Amino acid sequence: MVVTGKGGVGKTTVAAALALLGAREGRRTIAAELSGQRRIPGLLGHPTAGAPGREEELSPGLWATTLDPEGALAEWAGQVVRPRALVELAVRSRAFAGFVQAAPGARELVSITKAWELGRSERWLPGRRRFDLVVLDAPASGHGLGLLRTPQTYADIARVGPVAGQARLVVEQLSDPARCAIVLVATAEETPVNETLELQERLAEVLGRGPSLIVANGIVRERLSAREREEVAGASAAVAAPVARALDVRHARAALQEAQLRRLRRGAAAPVLTLPLLAGHGLGPDELATLAGELGRRLS
Ligand SMILES: Nc1ncnc2c1ncn2[C@@H]1O[C@H](COP(=O)(O)OP(=O)(O)O)[C@@H](O)[C@H]1O
Ligand SMILES: [Mg+2]
Repeated sequence: MVVTGKGGVGKTTVAAALALLGAREGRRTIAAELSGQRRIPGLLGHPTAGAPGREEELSPGLWATTLDPEGALAEWAGQVVRPRALVELAVRSRAFAGFVQAAPGARELVSITKAWELGRSERWLPGRRRFDLVVLDAPASGHGLGLLRTPQTYADIARVGPVAGQARLVVEQLSDPARCAIVLVATAEETPVNETLELQERLAEVLGRGPSLIVANGIVRERLSAREREEVAGASAAVAAPVARALDVRHARAALQEAQLRRLRRGAAAPVLTLPLLAGHGLGPDELATLAGELGRRLS
């Protein structure tokens, strides 16, 4: 499951909630973040030190990892290069590290391939078990799309050999909606809705498929009825005035979101689910459980 969308709309939050839901439903689930990121364990209430590449169990059936391109490339090389001693020589060479750092798209290729590997029954390292569900917290729109496109680019460039063969396996899975869900996260505002609809088009060009699900996040539900608005306006006590103003703003926001949500639904090629804007100071395990519950109800 690949989660992408405009920056700041709640991708990481939704990815964590989807992983929690998957684990609750009995799937051996792992949430994967990209190199340098480690937010999901904390969101789920189990902050971990998290050495890159390590797979850590947060709670029964729920795991988290931060993808480590250099480590993943070494694991992959271990599969295709024989004898093993040669792999170790290669890994220690500068050319090897240089590939991930310098070749265009190499980090992306290795990262998406590693995410693919987490769901394989033959894992690259002995003793590792496959995951039933891998939730990848992918980067924002343009970079997210780049990540999804890279395996095809490498398959085209390499044409034959182990890199092309491996890249093709990843392309196959990404292109198949039955084996890979692509979740687009948006908020119900003009620009995020535009960007989501555009992302949907680009996805069709890049992978020949659409999104599996669109999540409209941060929805304000308290739209007031005409009568409630009159009542609020009529409450003239001094303390009521700021409350009335706050309610009015909230009402205006809800009305605006409704219009954008309608636009999103009209253009969407996948079901659109909504998640509420949760009040409070930052999100933690309780809020994530609430969001997972909402997703579960709407997806069942
Ligand atoms: N449903 C929600 N209710 C309240 N706050 C939210 C909600 N979803 C996300 N946030 C907050 O919005 C901010 C951006 O969310 P995040 O998941 O980091 O977005 P992204 O990964 O797309 O950049 C964070 O501070 C997060 O806590
Ligand atoms: Mg994020």
